[in-house]
Amino acid sequence: LHVDTRWGSATVLLWIMCLSPMCVSVVCLGTQNGLSSTGSQEKQYSLLKDRYDGCEIIMGNLEITQIESNWDFSFLGVKTIREVTGYVLIAMNHFEELPLGQLRVIRGNNLYERQFALSVFFNYPKYGSNGLRHLVLTNLTEILEGGVQIISNKYLNTILDNPFFFLSFSYISLSLSHSLSGPCHPSCGDHCWGPNEDQCQTLTKTVCAPQCNGRCFGTSPRDCCHIECAAGCKGPLDVDCFACRHFNDSGSCVPQCPQTLIYNKQTFQMETNPNAKYQYGSICVSQCPTHFVVDGSSCVSACPRDKTEVERGGQKQCEPCSGLCPKVCEGTGAEHRQTVDSSNIDSFINCTTIQGSLHFLVTGILGDDFKNIPPLDAKKLEVFRTVREITGLYILNIQSWPKELSDLSVFSGLTTIQGRSLFKRFSLIVMRIPTLTSLGLRSLREISDGSVYISQNPNLCYHHTVRWAQLFRGTRARLCINTPAGAL
Ligand SMILES: *[C@@H]1O[C@H](CO)[C@@H](O)[C@H](O)[C@H]1NC(C)=O
Ligand SMILES: *[C@@H]1O[C@H](CO)[C@@H](O)[C@H](O)[C@H]1NC(C)=O
Ligand SMILES: *[C@@H]1O[C@H](CO)[C@@H](O)[C@H](O)[C@H]1NC(C)=O
Repeated sequence: LHVDTRWGSATVLLWIMCLSPMCVSVVCLGTQNGLSSTGSQEKQYSLLKDRYDGCEIIMGNLEITQIESNWDFSFLGVKTIREVTGYVLIAMNHFEELPLGQLRVIRGNNLYERQFALSVFFNYPKYGSNGLRHLVLTNLTEILEGGVQIISNKYLNTILDNPFFFLSFSYISLSLSHSLSGPCHPSCGDHCWGPNEDQCQTLTKTVCAPQCNGRCFGTSPRDCCHIECAAGCKGPLDVDCFACRHFNDSGSCVPQCPQTLIYNKQTFQMETNPNAKYQYGSICVSQCPTHFVVDGSSCVSACPRDKTEVERGGQKQCEPCSGLCPKVCEGTGAEHRQTVDSSNIDSFINCTTIQGSLHFLVTGILGDDFKNIPPLDAKKLEVFRTVREITGLYILNIQSWPKELSDLSVFSGLTTIQGRSLFKRFSLIVMRIPTLTSLGLRSLREISDGSVYISQNPNLCYHHTVRWAQLFRGTRARLCINTPAGAL
């Protein structure tokens, strides 16, 4: 199986061995931009071209919006698209024709505005007389979920009546504009997608015998499609379908992909299935494509919230987290983020690891009028309770602290400060905090490298009872505790 996954303009080719030569599908990832446009016309057109040229299955949504020139979409390759798993959105374009003649099924796993599997609207300019004239969806015979809206397309003149009436989708929300009129080719009867002979609408629902569940390849009761077919078929078997209702397993339409565990009736046990496959959109694959992660029996682009990505036997997998899932967050110290302050404190929610330093400076704690940053609410510092580790190149540097707080116990979960390439070799600095009476870093087990500098905190006690030497792993670690004697 050859799966071609496109990420933006970067094309990732992935070959999966497959015995049957028939077993080749080009899969592309769709988009989720709605009506927002991305850059210039040329850029947008070439993004579409990069993404969909030669594509057969769109995993996600096909969105073509705000293309103002009459670009040639046949050259774009849209012609080959057979299946869209999300929705199709064609809006605010000025081109004349969109050839989607091979499109057989829109699954509607994602709906535009939570309602529509197919939306075609405002495809004409304010001035001028160009605009969408032909919407060629000759082979579209199935929308599995969602409705259809085709509204305000001034020049779309070749859709007759209500061609969607015969599609088997759950509901319809269709308002065709007044100017939709024009005769079908005589050989088509009354239902067509355009005026030509090859634009007749295939009516799979109306001609079937009642036994057929609406999909057949002839009128007799023996001409029903297999129950796993969508969009019609050319014969009665699960390999004869035009599209699959559920999954395509090397050409056969099946209700589910071969499972990882199968029941052995002789031993009364579940056994691992050597031929298991993962579901990847609507196809079964024996390996998830690069960039996808295995979650149970599916290929997913990212693990769900309560799971974390781990590598097992060369395959990335999602596994449940024990407790809070690891979350790595950017620290402070960069030009745009010099200190923890009220504008960035929320970026530390649920973080377990801080990559980089954490600086607490007076401009963060008391606010910075110059940058229009208000003071930091002491309660907000509670977000740091989830932090277990500070890694990367820097330090925990506390040079200012809210006066309501008498300790650093918001860091009571912190176990490790890695501090590798260090600011003056210090990886923990706590200085000039008059309200500090104790440190409260009760989980701290390790300071991997670098020294500790705790100074000029006139009311700090207890720090002498900490066995600092046990925390140090570095060979040159020093402890500089230089609190004025009078305060002890
Ligand atoms: C199933 O997939 C194969 C190869 O991936 C493809 O050739 C075939 O047309 C697909 N069948 C259906 C019904 O989508
Ligand atoms: C509809 O599908 C058939 C069979 O795949 C194909 O021969 C025909 O060209 C398609 N129609 C259009 C307009 O693309
Ligand atoms: C933080 O984690 C909790 C529990 O997992 C979750 O409910 C919450 O939405 C998360 N918040 C953010 C901002 O990630």
